[in-house]
Amino acid sequence: PVVACVLAGGLGSRLYPASRRDRPKQLRSLVGERSLLARTMDRTAFADEQYVLTRESFADTVSEHAPQAGVLVEPAGKDTGPALVYAAWRLRKQFDTEPVLICLPSDHYVADDAAFATRLERAAEIAVETGGLVTVGVEPTRPSPGYGYVVPTDGLEADTDDYAAVTQFTEKPDREHARELIDAGAYWNVGVFAWKPSALLAAARNSPLAPLVESLAAGDPRGGFEAVEASSVDYAIIERATNVFVTPLSVGWDDLGTWDAVGRILERAGDESNDVVAGRVLAIDATGNVVAAPDAHVSLLEVDDLIVTAFGNRLLIAPRDASQRVRDVVDRLRHRD
Ligand code: GDD
Ligand code: MG
Repeated sequence: PVVACVLAGGLGSRLYPASRRDRPKQLRSLVGERSLLARTMDRTAFADEQYVLTRESFADTVSEHAPQAGVLVEPAGKDTGPALVYAAWRLRKQFDTEPVLICLPSDHYVADDAAFATRLERAAEIAVETGGLVTVGVEPTRPSPGYGYVVPTDGLEADTDDYAAVTQFTEKPDREHARELIDAGAYWNVGVFAWKPSALLAAARNSPLAPLVESLAAGDPRGGFEAVEASSVDYAIIERATNVFVTPLSVGWDDLGTWDAVGRILERAGDESNDVVAGRVLAIDATGNVVAAPDAHVSLLEVDDLIVTAFGNRLLIAPRDASQRVRDVVDRLRHRD
């Protein structure tokens, strides 16, 4: 069976103040009416079963947004590496034959759900054919430091039903390194993976997450989570694994992880001089700003390329360029609160 495993345990710090501790971005509707999580469930309805992986404090809300899915609660929030190892361990023996897991984030924008589903079904087949860890890649449009970069062996063409072995995977390189990787033919890692649980667990045994795998085998998940540092699956496992493959996706895709990205999605839809997620806006000689302030009337005068957001009594103003650093604001606030 093919089992969708949706990651929805992140705090979404870069979308502060829309993301708050009790209500992260995936449980909100940023673009459109339904929440990002509900839309991710729609998009993976082709799977035989659906699970959502999350932290204890989000579990109830997750069930409301994904009533058809099973909910797996991690013993602790330690980023996607430990979460996905835990899911592999939990789901491995749940079925008569070993399932293929399609693991994906819940914060993505996808332009064509049907084409996306077709590619994911293919990724699941490739995971069976190769026994490896399958990533999905899109062609990069800029040397962004916010993504993982996957370099395939020669011969991978988007738009064909193909896949290739990966010679190098680099998570979040700096801009210059990203440029070099793009010149070397790299794709962006979409953050969607397909693998058999046994393949992921084998790779995890050769990673800093090895103590977690051991504790799980010994029936002590909580101890296992305590024994490892927080780290994403990309850094902890994929970067050092040797059996990684990539299959190309050619539908419109974006990670709605930052205010800048949210603005980019709106730009596709309209040609306004500012991207208004929510709120009423008066703009005079102001362009390229991303405004998200559902309960506010915002006036912009001679300012460009800013993020202007207000949710509840929280206001954030920053240049769009600083989108990735919004998490620093959240870190500072957390230490003050
Ligand atoms: N269950 C669970 N537990 N989910 C988590 C946790 C956790 O501790 N931490 C994060 N998540 C979820 C988030 O809610 C999100 O849906 C997904 O995992 C990915 O986390 P992000 O924090 O958004 O990752 P990223 O965007 O920086 O990087 C990843 O995605 C990029 C593409 O969007 C990487 O895979 C990159 O390589 C990739 O390019
Ligand atoms: Mg993301």
